[in-house]
Amino acid sequence: MLGNFTYCNPTKLHFGKDSLDALAGEMKNYGKNVMLVYGGGSIKKNGIYQKVVQILTECGKNIVEDGGVMPNPTVEKLYEGVEIARKNNVDFILAVGGGSVCDYSKAVSVSVYCDEDPWDKYFIRFEDVSCKIVPVGCVLTMVGTGSEMNGGSVITNHEQKLKIGHVFGDNVFPKFSILNPEFTYTLSKYQMTAGIYDIMSHILEQYFSGTDDNTSDYISEGLLRSLIHSARLAVKNPQDYEARSNIMWTATWALNTLVAQGKSTDWEVHMIGQAVGAYTDATHGMTLSAVSMPYYRHIMPYGVEKFARYAVNVWGVPAEGKTDMQLAEEGLAAMESWMNEIGLVMNITDLGVTEDMLDGIIKATFLNQGGYKVLTPAEVKEILKQSL
Ligand code: NZQ
Ligand code: ZN
Repeated sequence: MLGNFTYCNPTKLHFGKDSLDALAGEMKNYGKNVMLVYGGGSIKKNGIYQKVVQILTECGKNIVEDGGVMPNPTVEKLYEGVEIARKNNVDFILAVGGGSVCDYSKAVSVSVYCDEDPWDKYFIRFEDVSCKIVPVGCVLTMVGTGSEMNGGSVITNHEQKLKIGHVFGDNVFPKFSILNPEFTYTLSKYQMTAGIYDIMSHILEQYFSGTDDNTSDYISEGLLRSLIHSARLAVKNPQDYEARSNIMWTATWALNTLVAQGKSTDWEVHMIGQAVGAYTDATHGMTLSAVSMPYYRHIMPYGVEKFARYAVNVWGVPAEGKTDMQLAEEGLAAMESWMNEIGLVMNITDLGVTEDMLDGIIKATFLNQGGYKVLTPAEVKEILKQSL
């Protein structure tokens, strides 16, 4: 049965080939000092930076640049961004990049007026925001995280060997996001497929939980079918606009909080993946693909009916004459074969994990309660060993 919920998603989206045209209109709503946040330079190579700067200049904004946001943004970079924002009295933060740039921008936005250490307050103690927030807008260039329409912000602390996400409330969601699928054409195949698996993982984390009959799971099945189909096309032809736009739109719906309403969720693959990320700094989506099959095979017997449903409704496995267990196994085999087909990383050794890291990774793994089996540290170890 659907549980009670209050649903609000305040992010305004502009989607399509001409969506950057909406930026000037949006910027009229905000003050003069705009902090332009971006990553390691891809936006300068593909020309998005130049277009954005031109629009901001025509709008009469003072641009304060904060580039060099790394994939898996660090706490040190967060402190640096907060200083830049404070020194320049920033009115608005425009994130131009992928999930890392968007997540980082949200972390800065809630920290500029925060009197405490934001790492301790938000990422260790998981406290709510109690200060003024600098509004954020986003021009998305990498698809996967859903950060363009949610309150998620994941920060890595290498010294403490922790990678932790805080899900902020809807007052921290981007005020608007500009989604032009063509902006993603310059992504490497590695990043594109990592993003595709991140999307799949977000949906599965919310799908593989609970035994009730609810609309969210039907929506998730539709999103998964679109993603599986479009991913195959995009891998063959990265400039297939239809496929890339479907993937972009699916990513947003996968994690804009809609499909989690009224139901329980798992998120254990992300907990293990983030711990792997804290030790290796590997690409987020690949940390998830590398541990997923051992994890799902491990928990499948505890949620076999849902896995059988997944096989039939998502992978089109014929059901006749088969037990739930047989169907569930065939569904997972179909998923594994698709993962290999699109070229995902299937083990953590390829991400740089060595056996001596396992105990640390287990310690850094949060054990969630919402999945079909609450893992023990020994089970995390077993899953990690199978992922090596
Ligand atoms: O830094 P630049 O030079 O821009 O290069 C980036 C980066 O190297 C490159 N890139 C982005 N757009 C490009 C491009 N290269 C060529 N052409 C383009 N158009 O791609 C690389 C990866 O970018 P990044 O932003 O790190 O990837 P992603 O979007 O996957 O974000 C990953 C971060 O988001 C967090 C992850 O943990 C990780 O820290 N997540 C955020 C979530 C959320 N907000 O809800 C949920 C997710 O589960 C995830 O945990
Ligand atoms: Zn993710």
